[in-house]
Amino acid sequence: MLLCSIFQTRLFSEIELTKVPMSAKKVIILGASGNVAKHVIDILTKEDHIQLTLFLRSAKRLKNKDISKARIIEGDVLNYNLLKEAIKGQDIVYANLAGELEAMAKNIVKAMGEMGVKKIIFITSIGIYDVPLSSLLRRYRYAADVIEASNLEYTILRPTWFTNVNEIDYETTRKGEPEKGSVISQKSLATLITKIIESPEKYVRENLGVNKPN
Ligand SMILES: NC(=O)c1ccc[n+]([C@@H]2O[C@H](COP(=O)([O-])OP(=O)(O)OC[C@H]3O[C@@H](n4cnc5c(N)ncnc54)[C@H](OP(=O)(O)O)[C@@H]3O)[C@@H](O)[C@H]2O)c1
Repeated sequence: MLLCSIFQTRLFSEIELTKVPMSAKKVIILGASGNVAKHVIDILTKEDHIQLTLFLRSAKRLKNKDISKARIIEGDVLNYNLLKEAIKGQDIVYANLAGELEAMAKNIVKAMGEMGVKKIIFITSIGIYDVPLSSLLRRYRYAADVIEASNLEYTILRPTWFTNVNEIDYETTRKGEPEKGSVISQKSLATLITKIIESPEKYVRENLGVNKPN
């Protein structure tokens, strides 16, 4: 594990860099200590062509066993300058965040715009287009509105409620279609996220509900 402050990114040593192919896709996970992020990290750390940066408030909260090839940045997404430096040079930003989502989305959109990074995957929630909108879901909806209003090549995900079941079984619905189902395994959602990371061009400016079929 390489723990870097943003001003010490050269700690991401030449030895580590030689392990990663020149053509590696650079992916940063914001909120890398989150539950779904854990599954995504487990999948992506097995891929040699992915250069992973884990951005999180405390590296101690990482739950993954093998993060030896990942670069780690401790930071808060609400700290704009830190976020901007972390996003610099990335190919894909995957936001696995909770809390002040609208403010975070604004920071992320601004930082990506300034750094010329186009692709973002942003997790929100089922129900954000319901009328009336549940007060619990407002922050997710407002964040989705911020992302949609940007010029980014976004994929917004609206998962149903999570389970810890060890299965991969999911379907997606498009924005405007009725959302289906009531649960989704974290592993399924993580699998979809890694598919988007593998083929981002297939999911440009998409806003997808995600659920377990039936
Ligand atoms: N649970 C469900 O059934 C369900 C259903 C639909 C959607 N969702 C939503 O899906 C998203 C992903 O879920 P999850 O279970 O993976 O979430 P999670 O475990 O709660 O992870 C969210 C992450 O956001 C990080 N975070 C919060 N504020 C931050 C900040 N200012 N700067 C940097 N990081 C910050 C947290 O880091 P710390 O470790 O530092 O706190 C945490 O790791 C969440 O928004 C969740 O609400 C959940």
